[in-house]
Amino acid sequence: MDDVLIQEIQLLKKQRNAVILAHNYVQPEIQDLADFLGDSLELSRRAATLNADVVVFCGVRFMAETAKLLSPDSVVLLPNSSASCPMARMASSTMVSNYKKEHPEDVLVAYVNSTAATKAHVDVCCTSGNVEKVINSIPEDHEIMFLPDKNLGANMTRKLKRSMKLWNGCCPIHDAVTPEMIHRAREQYPEAEILIHPECRPEVVELCDAALSTGGMLRYAHESKSKEFVIATECGILHRLRKENPDKTFHPLHPELVCEDMKKITLEDVRDALLYNREEIRLSSEIMTMAREPIERMLAL
Ligand code: 13P
Ligand code: SF4
Repeated sequence: MDDVLIQEIQLLKKQRNAVILAHNYVQPEIQDLADFLGDSLELSRRAATLNADVVVFCGVRFMAETAKLLSPDSVVLLPNSSASCPMARMASSTMVSNYKKEHPEDVLVAYVNSTAATKAHVDVCCTSGNVEKVINSIPEDHEIMFLPDKNLGANMTRKLKRSMKLWNGCCPIHDAVTPEMIHRAREQYPEAEILIHPECRPEVVELCDAALSTGGMLRYAHESKSKEFVIATECGILHRLRKENPDKTFHPLHPELVCEDMKKITLEDVRDALLYNREEIRLSSEIMTMAREPIERMLAL
């Protein structure tokens, strides 16, 4: 059944001059199908240089919106319209534009996990792969409001010794990681390095060996001399880690670290997206113009 669907998708891709971009957390069969697989930063960079009529984005809505902002002439499709990031919904455009009116002097830094409508009101975006560079580019005498992820913000405050105001948002999956889980993993796998995503709480991050974006974890695991790793992020990345490092062992920190939204897109959805053009990401020209700026500022860094 999967083989038939994959053949149909390949044919439709050719007919429509389409490319499939996918995030490291999606279902294994979608990862295997993708033309390009990556973390948020790598996917944004790729979207900015595409020459395709159609981009099928397998991930969550804010990522597909970012692809549309950076590839405005392509039709960008999100094959399952309900795939959206709960953290991105924690900073609505109204809340952020009101904040900006009340604090016009603050520099608003938006983690890329935010809607395009919210990005339209901020100064610069960042991902977990470039957050340090973005924050360091802001002069010390400017007050920063970091949104929506209070954990990523708090981790950067500690690491960069830079005070920032933090929005009260978080990723429900990463925020659920506890110090006990790390202690248990250390006991169970004493030889393993523990890699964690910086969307986890600072008191948990400080117990681990490295805090990295998903792309950073892939590079780290590849380059490290260690043979065994515990992975403290969404479990979807294990597929790629194992596939690309067959001589190494990867344990999930906890099997329930699963983002349901990242798992929503199926092969049928991808086929139907290409067949019926759904769901096409459409953004108003005002949002296209305003939200592109902070993303371009980020990419320029
Ligand atoms: P990365 O940019 O590290 O891939 O993370 C995206 C994300 O949604 C993490 O939860
Ligand atoms: Fe959003 Fe967390 Fe899912 Fe990433 S893992 S898409 S931050 S809910």
